[in-house]
Amino acid sequence: MSISNDTASMSRPRTGAQSAPATAAFPPDFLWGAATSAYQIEGAVHEDGRALSMWDRFAAMPGTTYKGQTGEIAADHYHRMEEDVALMTQLNLNAYRFSLSWPRILPQGTGAINERGLDFYDRLVDTLLASGIRPIATLYHWDLPVALQDRGGWLVRDTAYAFADYAEVVARRLGDRVDLWLTQNEPWCTAYLGYAIGIHAPGLRDKQLAVVAGHHALLAHGLAVPRLRAQSHDKSGTYPRTQVGIALDFYPVYAADDRPETLLAVKQADTFRNRWFLDPLFRGHYPEDLFTAMGVTPPAILEDDFSIISAPLDFLGVNYYSRMLVRGRTDSYEAVERIPGASYTEMGWEVFPDGLANILKRIHREYAPKGLFVTESGAIKGYVVWSFLDNYEWSEGYGKRFGLVYVDYPTQRRIIKDSGRWYASFVASQSAMSSSDRAGEE
Ligand code: FCB
Repeated sequence: MSISNDTASMSRPRTGAQSAPATAAFPPDFLWGAATSAYQIEGAVHEDGRALSMWDRFAAMPGTTYKGQTGEIAADHYHRMEEDVALMTQLNLNAYRFSLSWPRILPQGTGAINERGLDFYDRLVDTLLASGIRPIATLYHWDLPVALQDRGGWLVRDTAYAFADYAEVVARRLGDRVDLWLTQNEPWCTAYLGYAIGIHAPGLRDKQLAVVAGHHALLAHGLAVPRLRAQSHDKSGTYPRTQVGIALDFYPVYAADDRPETLLAVKQADTFRNRWFLDPLFRGHYPEDLFTAMGVTPPAILEDDFSIISAPLDFLGVNYYSRMLVRGRTDSYEAVERIPGASYTEMGWEVFPDGLANILKRIHREYAPKGLFVTESGAIKGYVVWSFLDNYEWSEGYGKRFGLVYVDYPTQRRIIKDSGRWYASFVASQSAMSSSDRAGEE
């Protein structure tokens, strides 16, 4: 089976449009944000007591990333945080999704807390709030502490328990000011890219291991949910209450033709690509045919696992980049790599805007999460574009530029791109529309 989109980033956007299109206003409290993740922007990997993550180690291994590039310096955000938040205000953002680096906070993965690591996020949150930008914190965006990797990483249940303890440490410190939490980013990628096809850390290549890793990532999520809720309390009363979700990546699957094999292929690809994580979270079990179709045996599942994993969530984060177009084969299926007439990003991802509406409507209909946020992308409660800054695109190194803001890496100078200006003007037009609506209602 070939999956067209897994290895694939976008070029510096060339949208010349400076003015926003006229659309119906979104609700006044709708969040317009941009996202990043710790390893992709922070740099400062040896500073203030941070220990290494499995991405530092993976990227240092020959042949794993574009030109051997690592996140050692990245966009130097650790040293430029204030400047970056000032840029966010220039972009009119009212939300910012970032992730916390587990090895900055708990260098050994468990146990001793590195207060200097927490201090950084504390300052970030305060700076955001002082600028009217709502923080959306992701606890895990792929940078597992190497200390835990050495004890088995996502292949062992203990990592899930360690994650729940980490969640509590973070929420205890930030939970009075952060009210929107994402436990994990794209556990499908953690499991499949990291453990089955080895293009992400830790670089293993065994599907059987991927389903074990995936189960522990889900368990970690489920164990963390009540720990986050218990520790989070908005002392300032600014926000109604803590909301907890998870960000999953989705690829709506379309049929390349109407042969019965293809229709079956659509179902199989959807199960594998979208339902592997969605079903346990919202239905309390894995899709029936998932493991057989993958050619693996189910992971070890203990009695309470599914009730932990399917703890009710306040919202689901939807990361959407593209779709899959599949064609059935006698024994399996293949994804169509190039569709005549379609446009592709530099990552090789088909530009397919309709897929976002498709996947949002389908999730709402079939899984009915209490709320929906578009937590990356490029009746939802927020839209968070990937990405705020150009950054380290994992195995693609610095070769791909997703940011609304261009980063000139040798000087670390930031330059707002046309797409950033467009987004800023779009967000401004939205708030103008919602205030005129409000004025009209009075
Ligand atoms: C998502 C990841 C993010 C970045 C974008 C392009 O899958 O969450 O870190 O790699 O893709």
